[in-house]
Amino acid sequence: MESTRNKLIRVLSENENQYISGQEISDLLNISRNSVWKHMKALEKDGYEIEGIPRKGYRIKEIPNKVSDNTIKWGLKTKWLGQSIIHKSSAPSTQRLIHNAAQDNAPHGTVAIADEQTMGRGRMNRNWHSASQKGMWMSMLLRPEILPQQAPQLTLLAATVMADVIQEHTALQPLIKWPNDILLNKKKAVGILTEMQAEQDRIQYVVIGIGLNMNHLRKDLSEDIQDQATSLHIETGKEWDINKFVQHFLTAFESAYDQYINEGFSVTKEKWESYGFRIGEKIKISNLRDEREAIFHGIAEDGALLIQEQTGKISKLYSGEIHWFD
Ligand code: BTN
Repeated sequence: MESTRNKLIRVLSENENQYISGQEISDLLNISRNSVWKHMKALEKDGYEIEGIPRKGYRIKEIPNKVSDNTIKWGLKTKWLGQSIIHKSSAPSTQRLIHNAAQDNAPHGTVAIADEQTMGRGRMNRNWHSASQKGMWMSMLLRPEILPQQAPQLTLLAATVMADVIQEHTALQPLIKWPNDILLNKKKAVGILTEMQAEQDRIQYVVIGIGLNMNHLRKDLSEDIQDQATSLHIETGKEWDINKFVQHFLTAFESAYDQYINEGFSVTKEKWESYGFRIGEKIKISNLRDEREAIFHGIAEDGALLIQEQTGKISKLYSGEIHWFD
């Protein structure tokens, strides 16, 4: 059940640019005027800047510069994505939070976000470094009515939306390395992990987890990844507001997702190819079993990687890792 405090923030955020009287708040929340006042003081203690004008009422002037379900929801204009948010200051992995929520029937669009992950997970069973308040460590619950074999398209969709958001905010030129790494100046700044619970021909739910390195300085990256990883701060020389990035990403992802469901994958495919890293070049493909060389040809309609084999034949690849020759 929604707490009084959350209700109060919701009421104030619904009246973002106007004052709402103590009496109106007390009626809406069914609490005394004195209790309204006490809640306002508690919000101020938490970093909310509240303006209270006699005979006019209250208004939030500024929200605290830290991530919480309330600060993300503040000004978030989405219809379904992030309307339910699970925020933890520390969690093993936001993927786990969303799997648990999904099994408890959480709605499509539920988002989990953590300041820090103690067991952040990457693709191919790798660890994902997720230091406290250095980046966006977030997972989304989707219940799409698509076939299980189409689910990889959602990963590519998430990657193109994130590339758009980074480009719009930072003016950096991101490149996507198939399927879902986003590179800035050839170093990885974003990783995406998609997991799915499905039956033969029906998806129960999909979890898309996104890690965006934002405010790390080079020394904050562990030594084993310093040469391959980067952050927005390293690339731009300034700190970035995690809340704002989350809000922009959620807004952009919701509209791209709705368009994908209504119109199909072709817009995403085109966009992905416009960000695609070195189409037409020789690549090495490795998976858990073997390694081979081919030419990177683009993306197929179903989201698979298209490669031109050494024999000239074009084939599709659904998993694995690709590497370039410098
Ligand atoms: C990769 O490139 O290997 C994918 C990394 C995915 C990291 C994100 S951070 C939020 C979510 N929670 C996790 O444990 N992993 C994903």
